[in-house]
Amino acid sequence: MSRNRKIDWQCIAACVAFALPAFASAQEQVSWAEDVLPIFQAKCQECHRPDSIAPMPLLTYEHASAFAPLIRYRVENRVMPPWHVNPDVGIQDFINERGLTPEERETILAWVDQGAPEGDMSLAPAPLEFDEALVWRLQEQMGSAPDLVVESEPYDLPAVTQDKWFRPLVPTGLTEEKWVKAIEIRPKDAQTRRVVHHALAFLLQEETEMVGLPEDADIPLGPRLFMEWAVGKAGQIFRPDSGKLMLPDSQILWEVHLHAMGERVPAAQVEIGVWFHDEPPRHRTILSMLDARGPRSLDIPPNEIAVTQGTFVLAAPARLENFQPHMHMRGKAMSMEAIYPDGNREMLAFVDNFQWNWQINYVFAENAAPLVPKGTMIITTAWHDNTANNPYNPDPTQWVGWGDRTVDEMAHNWVDVTYLGQEDYERMLADRYARLAQEPSGSE
Ligand code: HEC
Repeated sequence: MSRNRKIDWQCIAACVAFALPAFASAQEQVSWAEDVLPIFQAKCQECHRPDSIAPMPLLTYEHASAFAPLIRYRVENRVMPPWHVNPDVGIQDFINERGLTPEERETILAWVDQGAPEGDMSLAPAPLEFDEALVWRLQEQMGSAPDLVVESEPYDLPAVTQDKWFRPLVPTGLTEEKWVKAIEIRPKDAQTRRVVHHALAFLLQEETEMVGLPEDADIPLGPRLFMEWAVGKAGQIFRPDSGKLMLPDSQILWEVHLHAMGERVPAAQVEIGVWFHDEPPRHRTILSMLDARGPRSLDIPPNEIAVTQGTFVLAAPARLENFQPHMHMRGKAMSMEAIYPDGNREMLAFVDNFQWNWQINYVFAENAAPLVPKGTMIITTAWHDNTANNPYNPDPTQWVGWGDRTVDEMAHNWVDVTYLGQEDYERMLADRYARLAQEPSGSE
């Protein structure tokens, strides 16, 4: 079975690596206490601790050394920490970067190759302290609790059942227009967290006139997706000059994907927290699906790697805030390119190591987020691996098409598009060139 093959490979690669410490002699001596623990504190322990999302803690030398071969394997393959964008292609400047630097990677690999030595613990940094209270993750950064909280209805999930999609419609209760500065979704409690695979929140509202968008452009409002929750993504803060618009009498349409874990959860419930701008921001951001959908949507033959492309033409100048591929078990890679009206073509981002159980939103840094002119065509390319080489492939003999179940496929590219008027666009471009010109060159 393909699952077993994966585990064998993991073991072979890891065990061989572990058995060859002599090969690492070119590297300086590294130790857990002085070199590796500081990296784990910064890049692993947020998830690898009790009551967080990872399967095992990596807090102490005992924890980490027991998993040394597996750690080497996952770090070398760029699966852990979960950050799967290619480090050499496209934009590399992200505000939520959590990958390892090349030096950090080398240090972890050398540590395992040298036999995972502990070193002198009197030289180690103090253990981190974690705040276990159930708080909004963005609360500290935003400086307050959310201005608005909307809960889904509770759902009674039996101990054993097929996957369920629960779609309650809940009023936001807003009586005036609001501009959204930040959004976060979370499961309401630990029980819910165990059974919620992902949760989407769509914002339903009547829009009779286009508010906050450049005039005389036919801008698609997209699928009205407001925010989603999945392992690896909790929320988002918009840039100070932009935000999402919420209207009076709006409603949240939830889509909660639940799977039973052998124990009844009588009230599975998720909630969304929203922080508002005090003043309307200058620009409006619309979450858009720049999907890779071919003429036949998706057509993935058995035992093949299928490539699918979709295009999206920007009806007005825009700033592209992020890149977020979404595929399922056969998802292998996704790229986002721009073809500018002058014919130039540019690779913006490339996730070459897609892991279907991770929904990672790669948010570009302020100075890196592409500012693109009206008429730019965005090309999203998706690769699906339906061969036996894909360790997650449940059955390489099946034809696969577009669908909701994890054994069906998708090829979404969720991008927050901030639309700009022509003058704003030109001003922002000029400002950016000026800022970049001021930066000391060759400092990196
Ligand atoms: C954002 C949360 C997160 C961060 C950060 C993170 N991990 Fe993980 N890790 C997970 C989760 C969840 C899993 C289990 C699912 C999976 O394998 O993708 C996992 C799995 C693993 C596994 C495989 C365990 C197994 O039994 O197969 C290893 C090894 C690992 N992580 C090491 C690391 C190391 C080393 C770091 C830091 C350099 C790190 N992780 C950072 C969440 C995280």
